[in-house]
Amino acid sequence: MDKLTLFQSKFSDVNKMQFKHIKKNLDRLTESEREHANKYMALYEDYFKTFGWDSDDIIKSYNNTVKMLIKEKFYFTKYGKYRLDSLDQAIKQVYSDDQLMKDYMIWIVYTNLFIDNHLKVYHFFKNMISKQSGEKYLEVGTGHGLYFNEAMISGNFTHYHGVDLSETSVKISKYITSKHEHESDYEIDYMDVFDLDESNKYDFISSGEVLEHVEDPKAFLEKFHRLLTPEGRCYISTATNSPAPDHIYLFKNSQDVIDIIEKCGFEVEEVYEVAAEDIPKDKWDDSTELNVCFVLRKV
Ligand SMILES: C[S@@+](CC[C@H](N)C(=O)[O-])C[C@H]1O[C@@H](n2cnc3c(N)ncnc32)[C@H](O)[C@@H]1O
Repeated sequence: MDKLTLFQSKFSDVNKMQFKHIKKNLDRLTESEREHANKYMALYEDYFKTFGWDSDDIIKSYNNTVKMLIKEKFYFTKYGKYRLDSLDQAIKQVYSDDQLMKDYMIWIVYTNLFIDNHLKVYHFFKNMISKQSGEKYLEVGTGHGLYFNEAMISGNFTHYHGVDLSETSVKISKYITSKHEHESDYEIDYMDVFDLDESNKYDFISSGEVLEHVEDPKAFLEKFHRLLTPEGRCYISTATNSPAPDHIYLFKNSQDVIDIIEKCGFEVEEVYEVAAEDIPKDKWDDSTELNVCFVLRKV
């Protein structure tokens, strides 16, 4: 039985309510998406085996995040804001909690392998990065490492650098990258992007699903601006109306993000938006959960 089929059948035992959602998404996958998902699921399983986990532990871990996100949604619906206000809280409550980060990274990476909206973002990124080239690539917030590894496979850069301020994320990202044969060299450092030396410039900066994790997205993007070469490009993705244990900054719609981007000396070259649920675009409003991706250039 392949990893996806096993996941689907075992998930029905741990969470009957969410099972339909998983099944609907798995039924949509193409053969090549299934193959891709199975390949990566095997790699992540191997990594978690080093901690004595088996496939049941991984499903439990995925489900822990599903339950945690439901609690965050209750809070968001009741108070109209995310629970956390500061990076300090996110570091203490999430990034330095190894078990919680493992649960969270399993959920994020698996949703990027088989849940429709995240998978669409992944396809957008893969296609976009295959058209980019230069000397140095930087990824901020490598998390589970899927995008960093994909950039190394599909991008055309000489050197790849990843940074993340969770040690758990850095370890997972290093493992996944080390399991592929890459021609370019790379390093992944446990650090905050704000501590990067600005005299060292990058031709491309990528940061997926991090902007909503920061207190001050303007300061974050201004840092990217200073780190980029004049002709450099930047990819960011974020989420609107998307409560999670480490989300701080609430964007209500794509324009909220664009307003900040434009204040930081960037212009938008490309936008890609997808709703978390199957909601047609003419029904989107300031409460719709969206994933939004941007390719930016310096003005
Ligand atoms: C939700 S994960 C994103 C994973 C992946 N990039 C993706 O698109 O799915 C967010 C990651 O950003 C990291 N992070 C948050 N703020 C950061 C900062 N200031 N510098 C570096 N990493 C940061 C967190 O530790 C976490 O691993």
